[in-house]
Amino acid sequence: MPTREKPASAESTRFDGLSESLLDWYTAHARQLPWRIGPAERASGVAADPYRVWLAEIMLQQTTVPHAARYFEDFTRRWPTVSDLANAADADVMAAWAGLGYYARARNLLKCAREVVERGGWPTTEPELRELPGIGAYTAGAVAALAFNQRAPAVDGNVDRVFARLLAAKGDWKAEKARIAALVRALVPADRPAEFAEALMDLGATICTPKRPNCLICPVRNWCSAQAEGDPERYPVKPAKKAKPVRHGEVYVVFQGDQVLTERRPDKGLLGGMLGLPTTEWLEDGAPLSPDWLPETKTLIGDVRHVFTHFELRLSVYRMIAGVPENAGDWTSVEHATDALPSVFRKALKLAL
Ligand code: ADE
Repeated sequence: MPTREKPASAESTRFDGLSESLLDWYTAHARQLPWRIGPAERASGVAADPYRVWLAEIMLQQTTVPHAARYFEDFTRRWPTVSDLANAADADVMAAWAGLGYYARARNLLKCAREVVERGGWPTTEPELRELPGIGAYTAGAVAALAFNQRAPAVDGNVDRVFARLLAAKGDWKAEKARIAALVRALVPADRPAEFAEALMDLGATICTPKRPNCLICPVRNWCSAQAEGDPERYPVKPAKKAKPVRHGEVYVVFQGDQVLTERRPDKGLLGGMLGLPTTEWLEDGAPLSPDWLPETKTLIGDVRHVFTHFELRLSVYRMIAGVPENAGDWTSVEHATDALPSVFRKALKLAL
């Protein structure tokens, strides 16, 4: 039976028995995921590989399991250990990351791998993990729990949703999130923290889904206030999102044989360190300046849109056949560019092909 070591908070007492029920369900229904040690393996003493756990967590931030899984398989085939990744060339890792978005994350991935190798291995506690590049509160908790079986919570948006429903949380969302974080921490069972975290992830992904949650088969329905109220979908109650500002610009797809003109983006800033296509500044107001090498004859072929964290981007796509000076950029094979460009430029290239 899972045990709790810390004194239970008043709130966690109401959830007595929840982790046992959740873990029983998980033992029978755990998803098989490429980075995961299944319940049977864990029970037979197989240890999780912190490198794989960490890599998956970084990839899974803001992308789906099937999308991340393809990248995970590719990364772990090319760089099976943290030392292999630490020794990789930056451009290779950035190119392999292309399509996952949030490129600061790829730069931090490399920084973190190199720091882990330098310090001779992974730290195992939540506060120490938190000090590594690119590891925030969620990831520190997740890696501590999943890789090192530490009594740490892993509360992401899915777990927030599960607990918002359990609690029928109607208050200010920021305050409710703090309440949920404290509650989950208090509920982590001392003997199976990793599986508790995995079970919550699976519950959020397969039963307590954003739309049409399947309460009939939910292992924690007896503790769920939202289910008792009859409309679990109304939770979490979050403040309305602000509309994103729209920025505009132009992007140039310049072909020469089977090559396309590219540039390496500056390390700092959006899509930093990634391969890019030549583009103007991206502005909310006013007309962006065109590069001085731009030939007179360029053909507007359409536009692409891409949503970033803080703004939406609309780029007019121009197609050209060479006729640009030597120093306009680098020539990259269309095949490599298709793989290595971040999504917004990949869309423009695709349109031009
Ligand atoms: N979401 C975030 N981390 C995850 C993991 N390790 N497995 C499945 N889904 C996740």
